[in-house]
Amino acid sequence: MVKRILIGFAALVALGVLGFALLAWRPALDPIDPPAAASFPPELTARGEVLAAGGYCATCHTQKGGKPYAGGYGLPTPFGVIYSTNITPDPDTGIGRWSEAAFARAMHEGVARDGSHLFPAFPFDHFTKLSGDDLEALYAYFMTRAPVKAAPRRNTVPFPFNVRALQAGWKLLFFKKGTYEPDAAKSVEWNRGAYLAEGLSHCGACHTPRNLLGAEKAGDAYGGAIVEGWIAPALTDANPAPVSWAQNELFSYLMSGTSVLHGTAAGSMSEVVHDGLAKLPRSDVNAIAVYFADIDSSSTRMAGFEATVAKAVASSGLGSRQDYGADAHLYLAACGSCHYNRGAMPVAVRPELALNSALTLPEPTNFVKVVLSGIGLKDGMSGVMMPGFAHALSDSDIGRLAAYLRRTRTDLPAWTDLDAKVTAIRKEAAGSQ
Ligand code: HEC
Ligand code: HEC
Ligand code: HEC
Repeated sequence: MVKRILIGFAALVALGVLGFALLAWRPALDPIDPPAAASFPPELTARGEVLAAGGYCATCHTQKGGKPYAGGYGLPTPFGVIYSTNITPDPDTGIGRWSEAAFARAMHEGVARDGSHLFPAFPFDHFTKLSGDDLEALYAYFMTRAPVKAAPRRNTVPFPFNVRALQAGWKLLFFKKGTYEPDAAKSVEWNRGAYLAEGLSHCGACHTPRNLLGAEKAGDAYGGAIVEGWIAPALTDANPAPVSWAQNELFSYLMSGTSVLHGTAAGSMSEVVHDGLAKLPRSDVNAIAVYFADIDSSSTRMAGFEATVAKAVASSGLGSRQDYGADAHLYLAACGSCHYNRGAMPVAVRPELALNSALTLPEPTNFVKVVLSGIGLKDGMSGVMMPGFAHALSDSDIGRLAAYLRRTRTDLPAWTDLDAKVTAIRKEAAGSQ
């Protein structure tokens, strides 16, 4: 009897394994001879170049100091480091032998030419929404780049997470394949913005929180998340900025890296703007702004924003409303000469801290990051910079500034354990350099 049950059980397990193998199996697609660059019309290649910028392909597929698109850039995940691959048309180490069908399958389904499953560190869960026309242009662009010989780097993901076939299970649970479907109830512009935001420019890859298996939480799109040690704030009506993000401010921020009523794009958001969105046509960036101004319901939340701005500016003048304690003196000495405003509107080159999400987020993470490392000339708003204070200020100085600004510039509860948090963020930043 026991034996029969065991045999039955073994048969079930075998069936399960077989079923999963069938589910996971994808055919290899035939290699091709690398197509001649001249076989692609220049207009198509030029369109592909713009799309490649809008999808930040270079940011992830280029190693620091390495050749463009040759891969080897490490993406930290909770499971280990996953390295991007060489997507130049080198026949041996790149995608030179990939047909357009193989390229399209990788983008739409996350499956490599040899049939193996790709990890979702590659945002195919967004690129699946791309139209066939856009994929054709991207393929033309990549097949006409200079081929670079660069062998892939080994991922540090441990067993069993490194088993590519298991990604089939992940896809079954979390991946919805399919190109973007327009919402007939919305405008053409809104749909264009949604297509770019959800697909090519994958805003949710950073702004949507993920579950334990690294998938974006379906019910919490753009709910805010932690990426590479920064907080990518919520882009919904849960966004913490004192003035909600209206379309024109979103447009300015996404196009130039700064918004007068909010602040600047620091951290990886700076790359998103300068290496990506700024290279898209203005109409496309405006479409993304239209889409997010709807997602965050700014039209119903802008009422009374003038009063919020007036209050913020009133708190920022040198000496006004300051408590003249030791913390205020530290602030005036270190920050006050650049961060003050007067008049009806703040000035973009002097971000008004009372309007900045860095002070209103539930954690001081972004504030501490910016104070430690500053914002370079090319980051944030181009041509202006904020110095880093990693050497000039101690952890407890930065903690005091954070507490002081939170107390005097917002009505929110104080941040807790500031010194320990600054120490941890400083340590993490030093480790990742
Ligand atoms: C967020 C980082 C990221 C971005 C942005 C990104 N990729 Fe990738 N890509 C990866 C990683 C990581 C892999 C390797 C995944 C793996 O090993 O399973 C990859 C793999 C690929 C592959 C499969 C290549 C192979 O050799 O298996 C192709 C094709 C590809 N990417 C194209 C693109 C294109 C085109 C863009 C821009 C539209 C792009 N990627 C943007 C991270 C990224
Ligand atoms: C690679 C990760 C990443 C991607 C992709 C990304 N963001 Fe961000 N975003 C961030 C981070 C990190 C911040 C915080 C930057 C800061 O504090 O200066 C941010 C900040 C923002 C802010 C400012 C929010 C606030 O309240 O201060 C807006 C608006 C924004 N992103 C919109 C977008 C849009 C729209 C897209 C897609 C077109 C996008 N982001 C794609 C990482 C990303
Ligand atoms: C020399 C002038 C200068 C000093 C001193 C300075 N800042 Fe800045 N700060 C700037 C400028 C300019 C920007 C915008 C930079 C950009 O966009 O490239 C900025 C940006 C910021 C931001 C916004 C980041 C974002 O994501 O929107 C914060 C927060 C900030 N500063 C805090 C401070 C604090 C706290 C101090 C004192 C420890 C300080 N700054 C000292 C000039 C300065």
